[in-house]
Amino acid sequence: MKGKILRITRLGEPILRKALTPIRRPASAEIQRLIENMIVTMKKAKGVGIAANQVGVNQRIFIVAPEPSARYPHAPSMPPLAMINPKVLSRSKKMQTDWEGCLSIPGLRAKVPRHHALEIEFTTRDGQRRRARLSGFIARIFQHENDHINGRVYLDRVRDTRTFMTEQEYRKLVR
Ligand code: NI
Repeated sequence: MKGKILRITRLGEPILRKALTPIRRPASAEIQRLIENMIVTMKKAKGVGIAANQVGVNQRIFIVAPEPSARYPHAPSMPPLAMINPKVLSRSKKMQTDWEGCLSIPGLRAKVPRHHALEIEFTTRDGQRRRARLSGFIARIFQHENDHINGRVYLDRVRDTRTFMTEQEYRKLVR
């Protein structure tokens, strides 16, 4: 795949705490290039999602791409989907707590409560506005990435801080 591997920003860098700027021209060459670069960067790091500020870019876009891996052995599989200017229309009352980690916070895992299902809206890379209903793991990734573009990280959502563990211990647990 074309695209260039970008440096992943780390917790402590101010851009991870910034609410990002809406994208005016989703189908522009600049955004297409950004999408390719974000996808190769995410794949190289074995992530299941990545937000623009994680590659140092102030634009409201993220990639959602669940795939089973050593980091997420039980993930469903879906081709990488770019979501531009996303918006949550409604959230289920039902919550689900499960493990999360973050490419910008290496070596750490914790259990995070998230809404089980969401109604969302986003613009595709062709500039089409779409609506979708997400649930389970994909809804979890969406909420994690949507937090990123609003300057939040999963640590902010952890309810039981005793669930924090190292990546190494986590892998023993889920394997
Ligand atoms: Ni993250």
